[in-house]
Amino acid sequence: MVKAVVLGAAGGIGQPLSLLLKLNEVITELALYDIVNSPGVAADLSHINTPAKVTGYLPANDGLKCALTGAHLIVIPAGVPRKPGMTRDDLFKINAGIVRDLATGIAQHAPKAYVLVISNPVNSTVPIVVEVLKKHGAFDPKRVFGVTTLDVVRASTFTSSISGAAPQGVRVPVVGGHSGVTIIPLLSQISPRHNFTHEEIEALTKRIQFGGDEVVKAKDGAGSATLSMAQAGARFASSILNATVKGEAGIVEPSYVHLDADKEGCAQLRKLIDGLDYFSSNIELGPNGVAKIISLGEISEYEKKLLEAAIPELKTNINKGVSFIADGS
Ligand code: NAI
Repeated sequence: MVKAVVLGAAGGIGQPLSLLLKLNEVITELALYDIVNSPGVAADLSHINTPAKVTGYLPANDGLKCALTGAHLIVIPAGVPRKPGMTRDDLFKINAGIVRDLATGIAQHAPKAYVLVISNPVNSTVPIVVEVLKKHGAFDPKRVFGVTTLDVVRASTFTSSISGAAPQGVRVPVVGGHSGVTIIPLLSQISPRHNFTHEEIEALTKRIQFGGDEVVKAKDGAGSATLSMAQAGARFASSILNATVKGEAGIVEPSYVHLDADKEGCAQLRKLIDGLDYFSSNIELGPNGVAKIISLGEISEYEKKLLEAAIPELKTNINKGVSFIADGS
């Protein structure tokens, strides 16, 4: 039995993500939770002829507890999205409390589940989840993930539009965090190899860092990326299931994690990033979640500068999440 749960399942991301999870045949039970409309979404998806039994829950009648109990994997896209002119950090005021309350439910009812955080600002919401789990003695750094997959999906698409490579075959490591200057594409390590000019590198880097703004602007007040995010979230969830349920080895995905997930492997990375506790890097997944955090390898002078610019911002974002739980500020 493999139960997957979506918290925020009736939203712009939640609905297509739930659809894609319903199509994943590893999942036998799919529980959809939201403060509105989740029973309707569940009824709709339940007619699709794939194995997962779909149930929908609202907060009444212990809905969160019922949704979470027995979960193997939980994805969290609950919370408000950006409008034009907003940064992800502007969402903190509303989303921090939502994520804290959902994480409390997870600590109480599904402490062993793999938790995939989509709600922004990811750089701060992941530390919030971790601090809540710690408070309840339920924190395992190998099981909590900030979903940054959309950044590498965008990086593949944007770079291939210049290099001419087939986008689905392009891998670009994107490290750091998930907002503006904390998003660091390592174009020097693109596979298949391609030598971009310096101007191309600068333009591509900016586009990958601020790709989300293109969608926010085009939607003109109706939200941020939902469909591409759902695809990216479903891909990441599928990789976690393939590693933890099917036991497939060698799966590598990017994610923003607590570096205690791989204490030995991270010694060198920690030095490079000035002691930050969280960082997004390529992660090798194993039967228990994070098997290995892959270090950055050789990075160019330009990428070193991007890293320098990202570190103070990441530090602020992380501290904000940690202190929200420590002293409610
Ligand atoms: P949306 O507003 O369409 O949907 C959010 C859903 O969360 C709504 O259905 C709402 O009812 C629900 N919700 C609110 N409070 C809740 C609670 N306490 N418990 C359960 N559900 C609750 O927003 P959208 O577009 O789906 O975005 C969701 C989040 O994902 C935003 O914070 C957005 O910034 C983030 N996001 C993250 C990305 C990433 O790469 N990690 C990419 C794009 C968006």
